[in-house]
Amino acid sequence: MAIEQTFSIIKPDATRRNITGKINAIIEATGLRIVAQKRIHMTLAQAQQFYAVHRERPFFGELTEFMASAPVVVQVLQGENAVAKYREVMGATNPANAAPGTIRKECALSVGENSVHGSDSLDNAKIEIAHFFGGIEIVG
Ligand code: CMP
Repeated sequence: MAIEQTFSIIKPDATRRNITGKINAIIEATGLRIVAQKRIHMTLAQAQQFYAVHRERPFFGELTEFMASAPVVVQVLQGENAVAKYREVMGATNPANAAPGTIRKECALSVGENSVHGSDSLDNAKIEIAHFFGGIEIVG
């Protein structure tokens, strides 16, 4: 299986509670490597651009205001089958439906304040990584 990179965001509900290390420990326990990471505070316009695909959804305003409400940690995760592996370890979007041991089951507060975002495809991972990091070379 190929080594892939996926894009992750540790969301404001998690940075507020100072549990980014707890989330990183769950990520690393899967074998995924955090190969790039930075803490940024998105503007509302940046959040609206990032989630533009959801702009017609009733929760768009709530989602984008939440994402701009406090710092986030944007990350590049690397490993075998990284996109699917990270989606598995994040768990279901709504923590009420997430499996035990997943980040959302262990950390999330609600479907909106669900602690993490992960790319939904390899193509979107490349776009999201390029947007926030300008591309990260796959090494070792
Ligand atoms: P994410 O994987 O970042 O992609 C879109 C986000 O929309 C999703 O995680 C949720 O945080 C958010 N979302 C989905 N459904 C709802 C909802 N019903 N109310 C608020 N936020 C939602």
